[in-house]
Amino acid sequence: KRPIIIDTDPGIDDAVAIAAALFSEELDLRLITTVAGNVSLRKVTYNALKLLKFFNKDVPVAMGADRPLIKAPIDASDIHGESGMAGYDFEEPSYDLLLKENAVNAMYNVIMSSEEPVTLVPIAPLTNIALLLKMYPEVKEHIAEIVMMGGSTARGNAGVMAEFNVYADPEAAKIVFQSGVPMVMVGLDCGLKALVYPEDSQQLKVMNKTGNMIYHLFNNYRGGSMKTGLKMYDSTAIAYLLQPEMFTVVETFVDVETAGELTAGCTVVDLKGYLGKPSNVKVCTDINPEMFKKWFMG
Ligand code: BDR
Ligand code: CA
Repeated sequence: KRPIIIDTDPGIDDAVAIAAALFSEELDLRLITTVAGNVSLRKVTYNALKLLKFFNKDVPVAMGADRPLIKAPIDASDIHGESGMAGYDFEEPSYDLLLKENAVNAMYNVIMSSEEPVTLVPIAPLTNIALLLKMYPEVKEHIAEIVMMGGSTARGNAGVMAEFNVYADPEAAKIVFQSGVPMVMVGLDCGLKALVYPEDSQQLKVMNKTGNMIYHLFNNYRGGSMKTGLKMYDSTAIAYLLQPEMFTVVETFVDVETAGELTAGCTVVDLKGYLGKPSNVKVCTDINPEMFKKWFMG
């Protein structure tokens, strides 16, 4: 089993991605770290613990940054609800799984004590990952790769040219892209096509307990407007780990615009090599939506 750490801000699509990772026979989810993003750090951590209680899984959780490195915090409660995971009445979680150490130290410990390199899967703003790479650069050699959900080769969903996870903390994203660690970017190019429709959600409702829970979350995702399809952004990162053949991948140079007059948080993906810089990222430029749907509903 491939050891992974998920860094997350649940988040309705995060919840689904975590479920997919927890129930995969190929992935060994060693740690969940939380970061302020969709809603506050306190709320996303509470949500992660609620999910683990629901799934009856004992994965340790560690709390990370409660704000971006430099920028003022933003949130996405308009999409995910005030709680970040609106729509399902979860049982009160126990805090036994919450580690005393912070996310950065917890990641360090898991990475350095693992017998094989660990894959980091950030599906949230990259604050914790940037802090880890700056505080403990020695971890770089022990990270298999960073498979992130975030960025875009085209336009944005949080700013004109910026995807939410990068826009929320552009400086952190820049540190991560420039780190030299092997990276895979699964961004909006794929997330916008990884769609779940009302009829899929109805199918989930009667599938099993997890499907039923997800159905209820979906009824509240983006205020319940499901007709044009709900975007399963964060699950695309898990899909990449399990079925990379679903994706079109281009190796190229990527950096983050942090100071653009109108474009801060834009991932500058140099597909045509204008900048003449060596490639540092495997960019997923496309996804096969049918394959995704089949995997997702399977
Ligand atoms: C990303 O932003 C968040 O709202 C989602 O959970 C996902 O990680 C999509 O842009
Ligand atoms: Ca997320």
